[in-house]
Amino acid sequence: MNKSLYIKTFGCQMNERDSEIIEQLLAQEGYNTTSVPEGADVILINTCSIREKAEQKVFSLLGSLREEKARNPSLLIGVTGCVAQQEGEQLRNRMPHVDLVVGTQQIYRLPEMLDRLQQQMTTREIATDLEDSFVIPPFQKLLIDQPPSPAPSGYKRFVTIMQGCNNYCSYCVVPTTRGREISRPMVDILEEVEILVGQGVREITLLGQNVNSYGMTNKVADENVTFPYLLRRVASIKGLRRLRFTTSHPKDLSEELMRCFAEIENLCPHFHLPVQSGSNAVLQRMNRKYTVESYLEKVTALRGYRPDIALATDIIVGFPGETDADFQATMNLLNTVRFHSSFSFKYSDRPHTRSAEFAEKIPEDVKSRRLAAFQNRQDDICLERNREYIGKKLEIMVEVVSGNDLKGRAATNHIVHCTCSSKMHQSGDLATAHISQAGKHSLKGELQL
Ligand code: 5AD
Ligand code: SF4
Repeated sequence: MNKSLYIKTFGCQMNERDSEIIEQLLAQEGYNTTSVPEGADVILINTCSIREKAEQKVFSLLGSLREEKARNPSLLIGVTGCVAQQEGEQLRNRMPHVDLVVGTQQIYRLPEMLDRLQQQMTTREIATDLEDSFVIPPFQKLLIDQPPSPAPSGYKRFVTIMQGCNNYCSYCVVPTTRGREISRPMVDILEEVEILVGQGVREITLLGQNVNSYGMTNKVADENVTFPYLLRRVASIKGLRRLRFTTSHPKDLSEELMRCFAEIENLCPHFHLPVQSGSNAVLQRMNRKYTVESYLEKVTALRGYRPDIALATDIIVGFPGETDADFQATMNLLNTVRFHSSFSFKYSDRPHTRSAEFAEKIPEDVKSRRLAAFQNRQDDICLERNREYIGKKLEIMVEVVSGNDLKGRAATNHIVHCTCSSKMHQSGDLATAHISQAGKHSLKGELQL
């Protein structure tokens, strides 16, 4: 008999990809994914613990499921992802209505774990092993009879190329929740992209916590394969129109990778290069291993290779010990680089991180003030930058068509809204937009027929 699965995903693209894998694995066991939790046989929460707020959201959702479980005792509730990895057994003690806790490397075991619970062979399943020798299973195993979920996201997909992180930035929980850095063999990655492109996928984003060190840290990857080499191999797969990747660590950004932006035609001119702070003293305490000066040199070099590149970054405000002068240095950096977009966060302590032990924690109101100042300035810059596109033509990939409104995405990652009177366009199509207006967060244009 068919069973139904509801899965709620928090956090990064790595988690989104993991949720897809879970859906595919469970579809082979006869589970249909539903879009509402009510009435589902299994509810899975794929969680994020990168910041305190992310974790709080998970716990409040889990708390609200207690009643659902009381109403329907045969409902199975599972927690996967980073909170599951971090909390393990404790999570089950805190939330007794949770039936399974599945760590970041253990999602492939979900079918057997669910099966044991359903057969009532056990009343709880907890699997949180995190091995340095872990190998991400090849894609084909997940695909027996089970094509990936169809449109709307059918034309663009994520492909994981590595998991984990060895950098130990002092504020970051990722090395604890995702383990040591492990690269996938290049043959597996190429095969996965070929299968996807063969199914009509036109845009691929290669995923890893630090893609620049792909192939450097474990023998699973083929000898001497670097990230730029992998990128060139993926880019040359016939039918792939757009290639992106995320995330990069500035210390590992090589000249060879920058050159890819000049030489690989389908590599999108959009680059996420998290800087975290504009103060060298803070960067040092963050254990980031680069300076503001070296970051700026890389920005200049990147723009030399690809003048139209749109740069995005991540910023943490209120890191322990951050002075007004340190924060001003971050504002100066923002004004120098003028990022096309940024994600900015208030610092929060995370379990098992070094900065959680640091003294001189910044009061909440100071963090809030700094965050607002940063975001206001970034908003102004977004608008200024976006206005630079007025009068230009951008190639867009169509995302959604609804009535006469067409939403597309430029290679630079800008969202572009167009009026579309014909029924010709559908998701995944490429079109040209003539940009006529700019807002803070999107552009408007006319489709060129
Ligand atoms: N507090 C606030 N922001 C954090 N990030 C990572 N850890 C923390 C933390 N403890 C931010 C960084 C990272 C992004 C994914 O989340 O900016 O690049
Ligand atoms: Fe966390 Fe730093 Fe690794 Fe990024 S590079 S995942 S911030 S430890």
